[in-house]
Amino acid sequence: MGERLPVHIRPARENDTADMLEVTRQIWEGHDYVPLVWPGWLADPNGGLLVAEHQGRVIGLGKLSHLAGDDWWLQGLRVHPEFERHGVATQITEALVEEWQRNGSGTVRLATSSQRLPVHQLCERLGFVKVGEYSVFVAPAADEATPAFLPTSLDFRPLLDSESEEAAEFALNSPTLSLADGLMDLSWQWAPPHPALFQQAIQRQQAWWWHGRRGLLAIYIDQDDEDIEPPRPFIEVAACELNQLATLLLNFRRLAASLGYQKAGWNAALHPDLMPILEQAGFERVWEHALFVYSKS
Ligand SMILES: CC(C)(COP(=O)(O)OP(=O)(O)OC[C@H]1O[C@@H](n2cnc3c(N)ncnc32)[C@H](O)[C@@H]1OP(=O)(O)O)[C@@H](O)C(=O)NCCC(=O)NCCS
Repeated sequence: MGERLPVHIRPARENDTADMLEVTRQIWEGHDYVPLVWPGWLADPNGGLLVAEHQGRVIGLGKLSHLAGDDWWLQGLRVHPEFERHGVATQITEALVEEWQRNGSGTVRLATSSQRLPVHQLCERLGFVKVGEYSVFVAPAADEATPAFLPTSLDFRPLLDSESEEAAEFALNSPTLSLADGLMDLSWQWAPPHPALFQQAIQRQQAWWWHGRRGLLAIYIDQDDEDIEPPRPFIEVAACELNQLATLLLNFRRLAASLGYQKAGWNAALHPDLMPILEQAGFERVWEHALFVYSKS
């Protein structure tokens, strides 16, 4: 890092919006999602949305969010391209971690691309530990015309409102959770099973017992690549005995078809024991890179 640029870190305000647009304008060829979520982030009463100000101008930002229970999430770390490599992202993250230490609890995590070296570097500097590596796996949704090896009955029963505690307990004790580093994927945000997360999935009508309560499946609809791909159901958590996971995944493909989707996906952990199961269930890795999840407790 060159010399640390002196910045003033403070909570974001509504009138920072023009500067935020300028910071994010060139990021990811102008396809940054931050402008879309900014109004919601400004209004979020939990966590904190911080900006870095230099000579009266906002040149960077970052967000701390509460996921559930003792689980917190860092996201939206951005620095204006003109001011990169001067420790601005490090200073924003330090302030977000302080905010979490003051007002949060438990564990804070973040996800970043396997290629984003500055973020790996700053995570290590600030005492985060890499806890998981994930990549995107996709299979065609199965319909009546798909080969006979697919199980024919759907075998899913929606979870009831009253079952969120039981579901979290089931997922926590499930052997498949260790193949996912103990975390569920809440649409590109990772946290351990918690009743509140199942409550949300139940309200969305996207959580089921499988095969007479021998398994559990929760999903979300991924709309991340809407320009390239139509929305697709992705696995939030798949819990069962290891020797039943391939069948659960095949059933998930059928479920995806019955819900009207053409594909089914999973941001699956790159665990060596999981790869043959994914292959057996017809899932292919469609992403060359990985996402690293870092954690600090
Ligand atoms: C990624 C990003 C936030 C980094 O911001 P930054 O202010 O340049 O980062 P910092 O200057 O604090 O650098 C952090 C560390 O990475 C190192 N670093 C910076 N650029 C690097 C590079 N290209 N390769 C290797 N290391 C690099 C720095 O030396 C520093 O390490 P050190 O403290 O050990 O010296 C910024 O480039 C950005 O907004 N990118 C686009 C959006 C994005 O990718 N956000 C992250 C999403 S997870």
